[in-house]
Amino acid sequence: MADFDYDVLVIGAGPGGYVAAIRAAQLGLKTACAESRGTLGGTCLNVGCIPSKALLHASEKYEEVHSGVLAKYGVKVSGAELDLPTMMSEKDKVVKGLTGGIEFLFKKNKVDWLKGHATFTGPNAVVVEGKAVTAKNIVIATGSSVTPLPGVEIDNAKGVVVDSTGAIALEKVPGHMVVIGGGVIGLELGSVWRRLGAQVTVVEYLDQILPGMDGDVRKEANKLFKKQGIEIRTGTKVTGVAVKGKKATVSVEPAAGGAGEAIEADVVLVAIGRKPNTDGLGLDKIGLATNQRGQIETDHDFGTAVPGVWAIGDVIPGPMLAHKAEDEGLAVAENIAGLTGIVNHDVIPAVVYTQPEIASVGLTEEAAKEKGKIKVGKFPMLANSRAKANDEPDGFVKIIADAETDRVLGVHIIASVAGTMIAQAAQAMEFGGTSEDIAYTCHAHPTHSEAVKEAAMAVQGKPIHM
Ligand code: FAD
Ligand code: NAI
Repeated sequence: MADFDYDVLVIGAGPGGYVAAIRAAQLGLKTACAESRGTLGGTCLNVGCIPSKALLHASEKYEEVHSGVLAKYGVKVSGAELDLPTMMSEKDKVVKGLTGGIEFLFKKNKVDWLKGHATFTGPNAVVVEGKAVTAKNIVIATGSSVTPLPGVEIDNAKGVVVDSTGAIALEKVPGHMVVIGGGVIGLELGSVWRRLGAQVTVVEYLDQILPGMDGDVRKEANKLFKKQGIEIRTGTKVTGVAVKGKKATVSVEPAAGGAGEAIEADVVLVAIGRKPNTDGLGLDKIGLATNQRGQIETDHDFGTAVPGVWAIGDVIPGPMLAHKAEDEGLAVAENIAGLTGIVNHDVIPAVVYTQPEIASVGLTEEAAKEKGKIKVGKFPMLANSRAKANDEPDGFVKIIADAETDRVLGVHIIASVAGTMIAQAAQAMEFGGTSEDIAYTCHAHPTHSEAVKEAAMAVQGKPIHM
């Protein structure tokens, strides 16, 4: 240790980096974390998961009251008004509280925050704001940033063509918002602004929204978002965006070729994916190359090809999700400390926080079929008593199990609380559970989770309430 300033230096304080730094310190290692942003918490806490969820929550409340839907339950409200600045400042307060919380945790665990951009000068050395720092182990947790669309200039300050960071800070509700990309960001933030009164058009290049999700889920989600009033134009490519003053014209044409057309918009949200952050990191100084997708490859322990250099989170292959980054953060710290840190990448849940929520874990039906014989059980939320009592009829639970062993291979849920329901599926899979295990687990009544039990019974061909 005496040869280095730190045992561990983590670059980036997102969910991957801050968790790695805290766990390393908890394990008795002298730890620092370099972060160039003015606050800790990375994309997730500052401009990602947390502010988007705060706006999803607030906009859902607004729509519930404003739309008059509550009258159906005997709750009559009139005169509901949107106060967007207050909604935004509440969101900012949540972000401030949580990012400040990480600063507190750093102090509590004696993690030094090195403020500034870190660049490698050698395998065990970086420079942060002109200051040289050495560490026995360096963890790259630099995250990701928005993938640009060639020829389309994002200007969050102007607020006409924006990325997700601009779209969580708009000063007024756009008349018409065009979202480029029918993925998670497009649908979550498109939902926020639709609920607040915008007309929303989603332009998706592929023939279905939500790529990577189970085919049934994609079809059903498409139907539900359309029912909510979002216009979804699949199989459509954007050929250009022209901005004139406070308006934009989006030129589109069929992805398969054909006549183009122009769509007028007040705000254009570019949400076509995210790319790993490795620019300006000085990887050339340590002879570390990235793969074709710009990601840093690691082994099972999160070690890179350069001894003493590790990588986790959005900057390495795998889903770009905060909880995946966090689990990798824990594991890498434990591996550095000589313990055994493992992440089971086959069981990483994913949730789209729209209403209803869309959640999945494990293999899609399409992927599972390619691997062998399967059994599928499906149960509609319409037949679940709690969903019925709450007037939340949309969605289903689908369980895919191995035809021979009955082991659960994948679970896909569309339901108002799918994000909460998916946890039990992930746990069952992590424990190597079968659909019979789930079917014979007592579930409280009346809960949405009973639909998971019923779907498991459906795998056996014996659901009760269907
Ligand atoms: P990041 O959170 O990106 O953190 C990396 C940090 O490193 C950044 O703060 C950056 O400033 C810093 N950094 C980069 N380079 C350097 C350098 N050279 N020196 C110093 N500092 C550096 N995921 C979910 O699981 N659930 C969600 O609900 C969810 N919602 C999202 C909503 C939006 C709008 C977006 C954009 C993303 C969302 N995500 C969500 C994805 C999630 O934010 C990321 O998967 C997660 O933040 C990745 O964590 P990370 O630690 O790898 O990197
Ligand atoms: P995404 O990968 O989810 O979706 C991008 C969409 O854009 C895809 O459907 C793709 O086919 C489409 N697309 C690509 N190029 C296009 C083009 N030129 N024209 C039209 N469509 C095009 O990426 P997104 O939504 O930007 O999110 C980035 C990442 O952030 C996701 O991978 C996700 O992991 C993470 N995230 C997670 C959330 C969550 O967990 N709830 C919420 C928001 C983001």
